[in-house]
Amino acid sequence: MTQSTNTTKIYSKILGTGSYLPANKVSNAKITEMLAKDGIETSDEWIFSRSGISARHFAADNELTSDLALKASQKAIEAAGIDASEIDLIILATSTPDNLGGFPSTACVLQDKLGITNGCAAFDVQAVCSGFAYSLAVADNFIRSGMYKKVLIVGAETFSRILDFKDRGTCVLFGDGAGAVVVGASAEPGILATAMHADGSHRSILCVPGRTDKGALQGSAFLEMDGQAVFKLAVKVLDQVAQEVLTAANLTPADIDWLIPHQANIRIMEGTAKKLGISRDNVVVTVQDHGNTSAASIPLALDTAIRAGQVKRGQHLLMEGVGGGFTWAAAVVKY
Ligand code: UT7
Repeated sequence: MTQSTNTTKIYSKILGTGSYLPANKVSNAKITEMLAKDGIETSDEWIFSRSGISARHFAADNELTSDLALKASQKAIEAAGIDASEIDLIILATSTPDNLGGFPSTACVLQDKLGITNGCAAFDVQAVCSGFAYSLAVADNFIRSGMYKKVLIVGAETFSRILDFKDRGTCVLFGDGAGAVVVGASAEPGILATAMHADGSHRSILCVPGRTDKGALQGSAFLEMDGQAVFKLAVKVLDQVAQEVLTAANLTPADIDWLIPHQANIRIMEGTAKKLGISRDNVVVTVQDHGNTSAASIPLALDTAIRAGQVKRGQHLLMEGVGGGFTWAAAVVKY
């Protein structure tokens, strides 16, 4: 696929969304019981009051990230009213790819599982919890350049595979799931502004530190997080990037119908909304049922809100994510 020269202005627009959660829903009571077997103390009260999480979903042993992505994608393609063969680019955001080392990309696995044989481009984006917002920015730029017309963007994660169930500070916070969006070329503006940022000097506060060296694992293969450091940085950068995209879209927080933030912690979401002057009633919150699903969290929340009749066509949405790397990103969208 090569880039063509534009004569008329092209925008990108969300055509349809879908999501999928594995069947195994694990309540706070259940995870408390699981950890107690190893003598690790936690409680529903601690988890809910610190994070807003009541439950999360864990994938079955034979369920891969690409399987979750497939189910979410099928729903998004159906909602978009297109055939899978029309997709000319697949972008899959994940930190938990199917294969060790991250290749083949989970996007390529998804392409095959979707039965797409048109040779469309497919690649993974690794920006941890900002992965979906990064992917939306990439897709928007490709569409506006005229290079692609219908892009499938998926955030899909099986974080349960990289959780250390001996570390109560992290294992109670994350879950598995997938969300997908089909974005298409449009004569009317849909994605109004996007922004992406990173600061690698903060990479150690949220990471999987392990490396393989000649076949031997050096360091932990599990997620490690300095929760308080992430919290402080998140509150700061989310406000900044939100202001940045609003300014670029020539909008103010008062124009936003729904803030759809990365679902990591209700206290961060409420703090960001308050700083922006957006009412708590205009924040889509799914963290209580999903936990932190990293790159899947924003498209999962978006699809949940659309299917619940909260988010409606024509409304202005502000989506923003922050995560390991350190990365952060946002988008303003007219849905
Ligand atoms: O997705 C990427 C972005 N990630 C985030 O945005 C996460 C950001 N960070 C957070 O959401 C919060 O920092 C946490 C929810 C991770 C933690 O909340 P906190 O209020 O910062 O708690 P803390 O880490 O300061 O821990 C307070 C206490 C500690 O005990 P002491 O030292 O005060 O005695 C912990 O050992 O809570 C203890 N603790 C627990 N107790 C019961 C830590 N985990 C647990 C637990 N159950 N699961």
